[in-house]
Amino acid sequence: MSDPYSNLAMEDNDIQEQIADAMDARCKDPAQIAMRKKYLGDLELPKPAFAVEFGSGTGHVTHELVTIAGAAEAHGIEPSSVMVKRAQKYFSDKPNLTFSIGDAKETGLEDDSVDLVLMHTLLCHVPGPEDVISEAFRVLKQGGTLAICDGDYDTATTKISDFDPLDQVVRFMINQNVTNLWIMRQITEMLSQAGFLLGKRIGHGYVAGEDAKYFLTVIERGADKMAQVGLIYPSTAEALKSEANSRVANNKFFGFMSYVSQIAIKP
Ligand SMILES: C[S@@+](CC[C@H](N)C(=O)[O-])C[C@H]1O[C@@H](n2cnc3c(N)ncnc32)[C@H](O)[C@@H]1O
Repeated sequence: MSDPYSNLAMEDNDIQEQIADAMDARCKDPAQIAMRKKYLGDLELPKPAFAVEFGSGTGHVTHELVTIAGAAEAHGIEPSSVMVKRAQKYFSDKPNLTFSIGDAKETGLEDDSVDLVLMHTLLCHVPGPEDVISEAFRVLKQGGTLAICDGDYDTATTKISDFDPLDQVVRFMINQNVTNLWIMRQITEMLSQAGFLLGKRIGHGYVAGEDAKYFLTVIERGADKMAQVGLIYPSTAEALKSEANSRVANNKFFGFMSYVSQIAIKP
């Protein structure tokens, strides 16, 4: 398995920093923010509520548990110290926002202590997602909410015509960076088996904005990795990156992926 997100703390520092930059770019993308607002904005939480994000990355989505979902206090748990340090730096002025190094399968949180658990693009990277779901069930209070959102990776594309070579970079990137492409098509059964009641499920069509900042990080990382494993020559990787940048410069770039969010309640 090559998915670097599944054991990010063990990757070289440079790779972790590069991934953190990509996470920041995605978090700040207006279309991504709109998507998160859509499924986090209408949750019914008790007042005051304590929320935890499992797999909190650089912390922007944890912050939204307060600003969008309305929690009084939020905590992010994340195995990579590079990510945790960034999150702590970005939100050092927010006393109700904390981050710690940890594993979503064994958080150390007390039983029945959390009002909302969020997993935003976490489960696709975790071998054995059932263990993470069980941990959420354990720590949630009775009536507590689990919110899950992830990519429906088979739908990701940059194709603007048949035989578009740029699309191969996206397919390769997903092959190399996602552990379970089908997680959001399998999640309802996993949640039911863990004892959750199923709530709202929403499909979100994400289209890259004009500058395609996040999608360009996907193309750049994917083309470089193709060259690194010897699939193409470095000069071809440069040509593919240049193609993507030219499309953006000429308003010709198209990047799309569906995401699915699923709400569940601990009865
Ligand atoms: C794609 S990132 C998403 C980060 C953040 N939720 C966001 O949307 O910006 C996935 C994160 O999950 C973390 N992760 C992977 N396995 C984990 C585990 N077992 N427990 C907690 N976090 C994990 C990775 O280190 C990475 O930071």
